[in-house]
Amino acid sequence: MSGLKLDLSNVYSFVSEETILGYKDEANAHQKALYEKTGAGSDFLGWVELPSEISEDHIKDIENSATLLRSKVEVIVVVGIGGSYLGSKAIITALGGNFDEFDESTPKIVFAGQNIGEDYLNELLGILDKRSFAVIVISKSGTTTEPALAFRLLKNQLEEKVGTENAKELIIAITDKARGALRQLADQSGYKTFIIPDDAGGRYSVLTPVGLLPIACAGYDIRKFIEGAKAFQQKNTGLDIPFESNPSALYAAARNALYRTGKTTEILANYDSRLIYFSEWWKQLYGESEGKENKGIFPASVNFTADLHSMGQYIQEGERNLLETVLSVEKPDSSLSIPEDQENLDGLNFLAGKRIDEVNKMAELGTLLAHVDGGVPNIRIEIPKINEFHLGELVYFFEKACAISGYMLGVNPFDQPGVEAYKKNMFALLEKPGFEEETKAIKERVKK
Ligand code: PA5
Repeated sequence: MSGLKLDLSNVYSFVSEETILGYKDEANAHQKALYEKTGAGSDFLGWVELPSEISEDHIKDIENSATLLRSKVEVIVVVGIGGSYLGSKAIITALGGNFDEFDESTPKIVFAGQNIGEDYLNELLGILDKRSFAVIVISKSGTTTEPALAFRLLKNQLEEKVGTENAKELIIAITDKARGALRQLADQSGYKTFIIPDDAGGRYSVLTPVGLLPIACAGYDIRKFIEGAKAFQQKNTGLDIPFESNPSALYAAARNALYRTGKTTEILANYDSRLIYFSEWWKQLYGESEGKENKGIFPASVNFTADLHSMGQYIQEGERNLLETVLSVEKPDSSLSIPEDQENLDGLNFLAGKRIDEVNKMAELGTLLAHVDGGVPNIRIEIPKINEFHLGELVYFFEKACAISGYMLGVNPFDQPGVEAYKKNMFALLEKPGFEEETKAIKERVKK
């Protein structure tokens, strides 16, 4: 049963409901192009049917590998960047507690390869020195510098610690079926591998082993996660679902309609600190998919109510190019009421007996109304609870909406040509073989 709700009523004073519903034919045509694979980037549409196509054997293989690793080590290091990092990080953070550092259960899941911080890596190696650990290394291309660097260090340390033969049993590679340095390294070293399907791009790969294996290693139920995505895929979006009942298509239409009126920045706001990395995943999905050809909504995020005491000022009164999407969770996992205090020195007795969540919800509603009054249209997305099922729904909702939205914008939502520019400069500056011309040119440039 799908529980995700989309509310566009606080957008209608900026763009009318009629305007949004006017996107119907466009949205239907883009959906058709996604299913018939006739649009831009049609080689990367494996994610569209993914939730309903994952086989029992594949799920079991992932679960068995996770159970085995969990039984062997205290720490599992997940190495990857971008789409090979943010999906699992988002789901594991959302499903984990807020104070995981005090939880003594193992294994702990940590991440590497998402930065090139010398101190980050040194600190991690120091921690791993005193603990048993395994490594899941993820790279679709198999050639990305950040994870490759981190993996070289971790592999060295693991081999020194347990020996090359034992290390083999503690390393899993997730990569392309044939291409790339990681595939070659994994095959030569005899690591267990999982394949990233050719037609699932990095940021659309959370429902492949890229996301599923780390999530299973963290102890969460990947079957429920897949089930949530599948339920959403089948019941809420697809060619047989009318535009008016398709939340992904409506969200895509609303943000494009707003973009066309000058709302060039979208802020994803949450009121639950566990969603902080979900916003990071969302930013990557939308930023990398839409920011092209000098077009696209800039995706930003805030964590409320904390950021109401910082970014709240800007949102209320800064540049009026903002739209806000609120990610709301209907029910917290636990219950906590505010106690009565006889002296009432803090003046809070008017809240006595109320749930903490009621205060949070009134902060959310009050903020929404204030932001709308201040000229910021608000889209509201609600899920009943933070659990595997509803996160699965949310992932599929946003993926489908992003694809439709990218097509509405007139870009290919499945490539990322712009990411190459920094790499070219970095390789030239580091004098990578094959970059001699670029090295010469860039050295001239930075000398000036
Ligand atoms: O969405 C994408 O395609 C990118 O963010 C990639 O996931 C990221 O660059 C990592 O690539 P790879 O998995 O090839 O190392």
